[in-house]
Amino acid sequence: EVMDQMLGMQQIEKELAEHFGIAKCLVAAGDCDVQPKVLNEFGELLQNSLATVLPEGQNIIAVMGGTTMAVVAESLEPLETAQRHNLFVPARGGIGEAVTVQANSVSAVMAAKTGGQHRALYVPEQLSDETYRTLIQEPMIQEVLELIGKANVVIHSIGRALHMAGRRKMSAEELAMLKQKKAVAESFGYFFDQEGNIVYKVPRIGLTLSNVQKVPHVFAVAGGKSKAKAIEAYMKSAPKQTWLITDEAAANSILAAN
Ligand code: G3H
Repeated sequence: EVMDQMLGMQQIEKELAEHFGIAKCLVAAGDCDVQPKVLNEFGELLQNSLATVLPEGQNIIAVMGGTTMAVVAESLEPLETAQRHNLFVPARGGIGEAVTVQANSVSAVMAAKTGGQHRALYVPEQLSDETYRTLIQEPMIQEVLELIGKANVVIHSIGRALHMAGRRKMSAEELAMLKQKKAVAESFGYFFDQEGNIVYKVPRIGLTLSNVQKVPHVFAVAGGKSKAKAIEAYMKSAPKQTWLITDEAAANSILAAN
């Protein structure tokens, strides 16, 4: 029976990867909406994936924030070897998350758990445009931005558009605009409609989606039945080298709707 379940899951993984036309899908059993331990399973799947695909030499791994990423970070294990060194950087400057789930915190935890290094990107949220433009000229910030530009690995999650807009305290005008444009998904501070078109970008520094297109190893980690539509929307236009790590609930809901 265990064998049947494994074969069943491999079939789901294959169908989902084919559906999105992407390199690989890894599917954990269950639904992370109702079983928090599924998030740890995402961490194990990411750990195995990184251990397999991270090249030797110096890797620069750009990571985003969020509650999924925060739990996944805690599940990682040593990835440094004599030949392989990993530097974790936040992919983008602050986009309005609580401290514990900010990209800065996630990259620090990932570095600690894997035995790697990390660099923080300190850009406060509420700044005037003028201060912002001055601040990003600072050498310390420029240095981290350069590292982000050289990232060969990106790890991020996918969220529901309006949920993320609310959580990040976007203005009433922005919320109305997102509703009007039928935003469904959010990732990297970009908002997407059901067809995977970008309908809004949060104006922040760091990794852009066009940068991500050229990054050899991209991991999207998101699950739960509640996120099925968001995952579907984002993955429609995701870079094709992306590996999607998700759960059975999201996968079945996506496949059933197609
Ligand atoms: O960009 C997407 C969000 O970071 C996802 O956040 O993991 O807390 O649902 P979450």
